[in-house]
Amino acid sequence: MNVTMIGAGYVGLVSGACFAEFGAHVTCVDANPDRVRQLESGHMPLYEPGLDALVRKNQEQGRLHFSGALECVAGSELVFIAVGTPSRRGDGHADLKFVFQAARDLAPFLGGYTVVVDKSTVPVGTAREVKRIIAETNPRADFDVASNPEFLREGAAIGDFMRPDRVVIGIDSDRAGERLRELYRPLNLIETPMVITDLESAELIKYASNAFLATKISFINEISALCEAIGADVHAIARGMGLDGRIGRKFLHPGPGFGGACLPKDARALVQIAWERGVSSRIVSAVLEVNDAQRARMVEKIRAALGGRLEGKRIAVLGLTFKPETDDMREAASLFILPKLVEAGAAVRAHDPQGMEEGRPLLPGSVEYCDDLYSVFDRADAAVLLTEWNLYRGLDLKEILRRMAGRIFVDLRNVYEPRKMRAAGFEYYGIGRA
Ligand code: UDX
Repeated sequence: MNVTMIGAGYVGLVSGACFAEFGAHVTCVDANPDRVRQLESGHMPLYEPGLDALVRKNQEQGRLHFSGALECVAGSELVFIAVGTPSRRGDGHADLKFVFQAARDLAPFLGGYTVVVDKSTVPVGTAREVKRIIAETNPRADFDVASNPEFLREGAAIGDFMRPDRVVIGIDSDRAGERLRELYRPLNLIETPMVITDLESAELIKYASNAFLATKISFINEISALCEAIGADVHAIARGMGLDGRIGRKFLHPGPGFGGACLPKDARALVQIAWERGVSSRIVSAVLEVNDAQRARMVEKIRAALGGRLEGKRIAVLGLTFKPETDDMREAASLFILPKLVEAGAAVRAHDPQGMEEGRPLLPGSVEYCDDLYSVFDRADAAVLLTEWNLYRGLDLKEILRRMAGRIFVDLRNVYEPRKMRAAGFEYYGIGRA
């Protein structure tokens, strides 16, 4: 099968490489010539475990190509639109200009019957609009539009693509459904459930899923504050709740608030979609509010650990990215927390295995970056663990104490055991643990 993937960003690149791995012939088209050149010469524009090897393998085997031009659309049975949909400034709505531009640009190249698939996360109604744009631009085109949202987690995207919990396909013609089923046929072997539905439902499934995941996180974060007030242990609560099969154990880990490219953006977009239709979305609105409050609460936690004053304090920060195994800084808690620490007069030194380059232009100019992990602790009054990279799970505690001026350790991911940290000599603070 010949596939064109428009947009060689995160979703396009991972999906393109994985479809090639399934045996399709895939061309990833990107409007940025530098990115195309980079990809052709085997350089990944982003960090995702296993992606470079997968791209290289499929390039070498002739199933994956990169291009700046859309001519390949003519010979494709399926054309995916996987361009960015950033949050529009002001109203929080996903900005669709790149999606609509891709529809206009690809339309003239459509040859025989083609299925044009929205892979980007797009508001309900976008697939129909894409259909209208293509039909208007090229009235003779023989095509259908489908919606096929992705549920990839950064850092685990290839595994998620190869072994998904489900594949969601929105269609308004059986012919389009057949073609997409054929593309995903390799997943039949592992009996992946296919949810085949209409266009609008497929679009809404993506928003509802991410908003629900965000709800679980804000819920446990709110409970963690209650645990601190009561003297209870949030992990015991999460486990006790999560073992109920109706609730489930995942996404009940407290932290400094959810970030990333999807959860915050999709939750905001869902609120907006509902508002436009005169429907209330009180739960999701509260989830976003709780997330903002959680970040602010983390700053207060650090301030309180330091005796109520941040001015003149030296703080070592471990982790900048919104989660481990990515260099993505989008809506990372560090972008909220670090400026507040600096504003209040603290001197911040930071380490991150992948995120320092991305983080530098987004964080206050006074933040110092340490390539060497342990030097981040030198003369620090407090250490703050912000992202739970594996590298930070087995730190040499004696070495840290030797380097630090103080012994305060604020663990915003509850990576360490409070009892052990206190026994090792730290003044330890976690989230939701007495
Ligand atoms: C998410 C969805 O999981 C994925 O299905 C979707 O398609 C894209 O958005 P991703 O943004 O990569 O994936 O990250 P995810 O693993 O969901 O984490 C999002 C944020 O929530 C991170 O900041 C993470 O630290 C935080 N989180 C997650 C928690 O604070 N607690 C949890 O229990 C889980």
